[in-house]
Amino acid sequence: MGLFFVVLVLLGVYLYVQNLRLRRKYPPGPRAWPIVGNLRELARGQHRVFAEWRLKYGDVFTVWLGPRPAVVLSGQDAVKEALLRHGDVFSSRPDLFVWRRTIGTRGKGIGTAPYGPEWKETRKVALTWLNTFGAGKQSLEPTIVQEAQDLVQVFKDKCGQPFDPTVSIGLSVANVICSVVFGRRFDHDDERFSHLMGLINRYLRTNTSSQALNIYPILRHVPSFRRKLKEVVTCSDDVRSFVIEVIQEHRETFDPNNIRDVIDGFLLEEHRGNRILSELPENNIFNVIRNLFLAGTDTTATTLRWALLYLVMNPNVQQKVQEEIDESLGKQAPSMLLREHLPYTEATIREAQRIRTILPSSLPHETTAPVTILGHQIPAGTFILPNLWSLHMDPKYWPDPERFDPTRFLDSDGQLAQRTESFLPFGTGPRRCLGEQLAKFELFLFFTSMLQQFTFKLPEGAPTPDTEGIFGLVFSPKPFEICALPRF
Ligand code: HEM
Repeated sequence: MGLFFVVLVLLGVYLYVQNLRLRRKYPPGPRAWPIVGNLRELARGQHRVFAEWRLKYGDVFTVWLGPRPAVVLSGQDAVKEALLRHGDVFSSRPDLFVWRRTIGTRGKGIGTAPYGPEWKETRKVALTWLNTFGAGKQSLEPTIVQEAQDLVQVFKDKCGQPFDPTVSIGLSVANVICSVVFGRRFDHDDERFSHLMGLINRYLRTNTSSQALNIYPILRHVPSFRRKLKEVVTCSDDVRSFVIEVIQEHRETFDPNNIRDVIDGFLLEEHRGNRILSELPENNIFNVIRNLFLAGTDTTATTLRWALLYLVMNPNVQQKVQEEIDESLGKQAPSMLLREHLPYTEATIREAQRIRTILPSSLPHETTAPVTILGHQIPAGTFILPNLWSLHMDPKYWPDPERFDPTRFLDSDGQLAQRTESFLPFGTGPRRCLGEQLAKFELFLFFTSMLQQFTFKLPEGAPTPDTEGIFGLVFSPKPFEICALPRF
């Protein structure tokens, strides 16, 4: 018994010293507890806790996600120095347990792939074909406007009654990416589409609820976590079956002289014997398509929901947007060509993106070599969290940051100011969002179409909505209901 006690004490001292040594390799940060690290504090809301710690530890600090150190970069100096100036070192992604179980080890598509020639080539090809099919270009405008008009019709059918706009906005936005990637759209009541959207929602939900497994993979042996893992893998397999079926249909009808969409674009690369892509396993193309689909729906749809929420809470802003739309568009369909005549409208969209950053810590990055940022040494293989929220809430650039005020993005003549400082909703550097141009088109055309047709209000007697939001794969508003009152 005595010997056991001595061994236990020695083991404790050994682990303590090892831990001290390990901590010295990373920038300073809050005190971390054994095993859980800083997870208990972070449960209060990661972005808020990071804001407190930034004040205490500066722009580069370390938090412990269980046993794993993660360096948080806050403020535009740290984020730009790392992701832009040292973009080659900061552009990998961590190898997360749940990703590995659902995505596989090679052929990881785009968003989850480690830095290297395979990711570079896959990203380049995806971007080429997205551009070819009009993402972020005038040629896709009619498709987006049509989807926006269908959405308007769905809102009209609600006849001013309270409703939650989440599903209808999600379906409309998803249809845009479907047109570009799958070469087809679906009606809102299409069973196959509803099934796909249901799968995606389930996938996003289960993926979020299984995050603890990324920190403690050993938990997979605990029955409740084993069930969670099984659920996320099953869900991923279901989405996979759907996408693989669509890819198979494309293979069967593939004609190299008639490229119909992004899937065909990837098949053409294979057909031409693209050296890098043809060596990747079949699941690479599946992962690319899934990436585009997931990244292209929830992000844009959630931004539109935040924008609606802030408009119903700020009727004066809503009125100004409508006055501008009436003056510049009248009843004609919105068009990107007219965007410069709608500076206040565009500023309102940007303000919604600023005040509620849908990816507050971006996507996780990983360093590939030792590097120094603002005087702090960071080892190779470090998990990095670019704290975009800190840029958008920095009172130095955005006084009274919780106030919703689109005029922040306007100059003294009421024109759109090129405010690039401390504003990076799409990230920056080599991993910058691939769909930025497409998203900007969608946000503008959907937002303008909705505001041209309706005045949005909270239901009679509804309490002031909560703007704290909920963390999923994206940071989204809590469910809320609105009334869409037709303006004409
Ligand atoms: C308002 C809408 C959107 C926002 C705010 C947004 C934001 C972001 C951010 C912050 C990242 C991470 C950048 C980084 O790791 O440093 C990202 C990555 C990505 N986004 Fe978006 N995004 C939006 C819409 C879209 C759309 C419509 C697409 C579809 C084409 C898309 C495709 C991607 C992809 C594929 C990546 C991974 C890039 C890579 O790892 O190389 N996003 N996005």
